[in-house]
Amino acid sequence: MDTIKTYDLHTQLREARQEIGDIEIAETDTDFVKSYWYYILFGNYEGYIIDDRPGNNGYKMYVIYLNGLVSGFSIFHETDLKKTIDLVIVDIKYRGHGLGTTLLRKCIKESVAQCQKVLLEVHADNTGAIRLYRKLGFKFTDCHGDYIKMVRR
Ligand SMILES: CC(C)(COP(=O)(O)OP(=O)(O)OC[C@H]1O[C@@H](n2cnc3c(N)ncnc32)[C@H](O)[C@@H]1OP(=O)(O)O)[C@@H](O)C(=O)NCCC(=O)NCCS
Repeated sequence: MDTIKTYDLHTQLREARQEIGDIEIAETDTDFVKSYWYYILFGNYEGYIIDDRPGNNGYKMYVIYLNGLVSGFSIFHETDLKKTIDLVIVDIKYRGHGLGTTLLRKCIKESVAQCQKVLLEVHADNTGAIRLYRKLGFKFTDCHGDYIKMVRR
């Protein structure tokens, strides 16, 4: 049984960090995932995720629990027309059990209800994540450097 809690990172960053502090990531995760994870947890670079530009409703985090245990999270930010998923991480112990899918489906469901498209970027080498995004209806739009841009309308 899984549940999802939502944090507004403008006001609840510290609380959110406490929740995700015990999650373990893999040595093989991409450098992007590792560095973003580091910034969130240790907070010496909060500007990376806190963005107050006009029209930006701020960054949020979903934390997912499996049988009461914190097992993954996603970070996203949105405007009226689009939602951008910045990061999805599931604890290495719980990968392959549908938690990543559940986190993404929640984002997608809310965006469909609000007529927003959903955008994300992923490292071209991250074939597992790309497979998951394609399965959920994301389509390739563009690439820059080593990153692929995907959208779900
Ligand atoms: C990507 C990630 C969030 C997926 O979470 P998850 O809970 O394991 O995913 P789910 O169990 O919901 O879905 C698994 C599906 O995703 C794909 N997938 C995810 N990771 C995969 C991997 N390492 N190898 C192959 N397929 C993978 C498969 O299509 C799989 O579907 P299937 O079981 O029907 O074949 C997780 O692997 C993770 O935390 N990775 C490290 C962080 C990361 O790279 N995030 C994405 C970039 S921001």
